[in-house]
Amino acid sequence: MLLEIKNLTKSYRAPDGGDAVEVLHNIDWQLNAGESVAILGPSGSGKSTLLNIIGALDKADSGAVTVDGHDIEQFDERALAGYRNETVGFIFQLHHLLPQCTILENVLVPTLARTGVDRVVLKKRAEELLDSVGLKHRLHHRPGQLSGGERQRVAVARALINGPKLLLADEPTGALDRTSAGRLVDLLAELNQAQGVTLIVVTHALEVASRMQRVFEIKDCKLVQRP
Ligand SMILES: Nc1ncnc2c1ncn2[C@@H]1O[C@H](COP(=O)(O)OP(=O)(O)OP(=O)(O)O)[C@@H](O)[C@H]1O
Ligand SMILES: [Mg+2]
Repeated sequence: MLLEIKNLTKSYRAPDGGDAVEVLHNIDWQLNAGESVAILGPSGSGKSTLLNIIGALDKADSGAVTVDGHDIEQFDERALAGYRNETVGFIFQLHHLLPQCTILENVLVPTLARTGVDRVVLKKRAEELLDSVGLKHRLHHRPGQLSGGERQRVAVARALINGPKLLLADEPTGALDRTSAGRLVDLLAELNQAQGVTLIVVTHALEVASRMQRVFEIKDCKLVQRP
């Protein structure tokens, strides 16, 4: 099992000091290595919250999140940084590429914190990844010179550069037209199948969700599998 969530609860305090709002309530969830799943749910239902907790960008109030055999709540700062950088890869709705860096440099950003790695090998891997997402001819362009779909494919390459076991995508096709969205989902599905990366995709689009092996929905603070 790659991911195991037990009894996870999360609420946010109201900014005006009012009652806390519960977003996730006693969630239990298990994913096997190599699975691909989608999470659906209305706006504000807690999809990003759940993804951010799994990616250790946010903390649960209670419960346990175990990834690849490690309880991520037990990590110290150093282990957390390594986890965020190497065990998980993130793709967001907006790509968050650095505008002043080239595409190749952007893909290499997550490797900068790593020590004892061969830069030449990493650069080769970045080039191969960009080739695999169909951007071999754009290595030295800057994000502003790419289309939205191309930028999102750069974000996929960047998320994969450190060889994550778990890829977390939060509405990765949200800013794309249908054709580009379709291509991006093809790419994610292919990566999942060819490289065995476990994939969690948060989406509003049913056609995106239906490409994943299992589809879940957040409803009333609970995560339920759709038939
Ligand atoms: N930092 C925060 N402080 C207070 N409330 C928050 C915070 N982050 C999220 N929330 C609230 O938690 C709820 C869930 O938010 P979340 O971003 O997880 O929803 P979502 O399902 O991803 O929605 P969307 O589809 O619009 O992206 C919302 O009601 C939101 O207002
Ligand atoms: Mg969200």
